[in-house]
Amino acid sequence: MTDDTDPLAWTRDYTPILRSLADEYGETTPLEGYSVALASHLEQKTGVLVETLRDAGATVLVTGSEPYSTKAEVVDALRDQDRIETYVEAGMSEEEWENGQHELLEAEPDFILDDGCELIAKVHADHPDVAESVIGGGEQTTAGITRLEAMEDEDVLAFPVYGVNDTPMKHYFDNVHGTGESSLANVMITTNTMLSGKTVVVGGYGYCGRGIARKARGMGAQTIVTEVDPRKALEAHMDGHRIASMEEAAAEADYIITSTGNRDVVRDEHLEHLQDGVILANAGHFDVEIAVPALEEAAERITEPRDGVTRYHLPDGRRVNLLAEGRLVNLTGPHSGGHPAEVMDTTFAMMFEAARDMLAEGRGEDLAPGLYAMPDRLDRAVAERKLETLGASIDEWTDRQRAYAEEWEHPDSPF
Ligand code: NAI
Repeated sequence: MTDDTDPLAWTRDYTPILRSLADEYGETTPLEGYSVALASHLEQKTGVLVETLRDAGATVLVTGSEPYSTKAEVVDALRDQDRIETYVEAGMSEEEWENGQHELLEAEPDFILDDGCELIAKVHADHPDVAESVIGGGEQTTAGITRLEAMEDEDVLAFPVYGVNDTPMKHYFDNVHGTGESSLANVMITTNTMLSGKTVVVGGYGYCGRGIARKARGMGAQTIVTEVDPRKALEAHMDGHRIASMEEAAAEADYIITSTGNRDVVRDEHLEHLQDGVILANAGHFDVEIAVPALEEAAERITEPRDGVTRYHLPDGRRVNLLAEGRLVNLTGPHSGGHPAEVMDTTFAMMFEAARDMLAEGRGEDLAPGLYAMPDRLDRAVAERKLETLGASIDEWTDRQRAYAEEWEHPDSPF
């Protein structure tokens, strides 16, 4: 296939870390003999990760992390390849998608790379015998880590899981820059509006919200942040954003973009404050951050003025525009390409390393069941690999600097 017929060709050009892993481990095939289940939004970047795991020797069992973001051309490109089994199709209903996940788990994967803890929760709830034979797992999202922490608290995890999301190489880049840029890009493309000079309200100032707010301001928007954590609110304030309750902020918003991981961040009590023409988008968790049922109940009429925009006509004449039906605007909107490949390259390299470390290096057999931080050596190794692909050099400590950092007595110090 050439770059005009191969749907993954363009993305491979922008995923140099995965290419370098495929080159190195394609020679030694450390994952040979293992089956790795992967749940992720099944678009081009995921396709390249699937190929990388397969090139390293694994049999890869693939599903989507939700039913709406699967790209037909990617499934088609993967389906007929050796040692790749797809359990998802574009256009599946939620029920079909769920059934596909159960079918995948019945194939008894050795390792689970998860998104939102979907497969890991299902294998424990519905396939406990399979869970007993799983060697380990890795989780790439904030929401998934929250679910895993709940499983850990109840002591129900049957195997060790690396919290890939919590590594610096994942959330410093993917959550901040990937979600920030791709969410704003999708809001602008879907609506054909400009942020400059507008008021953008960002719900939540965690890693994602911080990226959205900083980048919106960089494009000339005035930003207001809503929070429930006083320290995060102060951080937003010190970064130069206004802070307000959602009730106050809603009255000024041209756009509200949520990214909190929790539900009903925009809800019925906020609707009366919204301005005519406000644009609402969710970049956080599934479809729960904007209370769509409240909008449906309040509206006397619902129209679709543009692809990807649902307009709720309120009885007093105000119009509220909701993007991507309240689902992740950067992943499920009509123009969405998800995160840029360059940033997913880093996240997926961490996922690859989670699988390689637990399976090929044997850490999965050594660790007791539970949720684990990923070893820092893996994070550093991916960072070094990324720098190599950039052709960038950094400094190394001199012996004297290392000794200075390691000693508690500093005899040369003037103080
Ligand atoms: P985080 O935990 O760093 O930040 C969440 C922030 O929201 C926290 O500061 C918290 O205090 C705040 N918050 C919680 N409830 C709130 C409420 N009702 N009102 C205002 N603020 C509230 O999490 P992170 O990494 O920023 O992720 C946020 C969400 O975005 C998660 O659901 C995560 O899975 C999702 N995510 C989405 C991506 C995408 O592609 N759209 C990519 C990465 C993560």
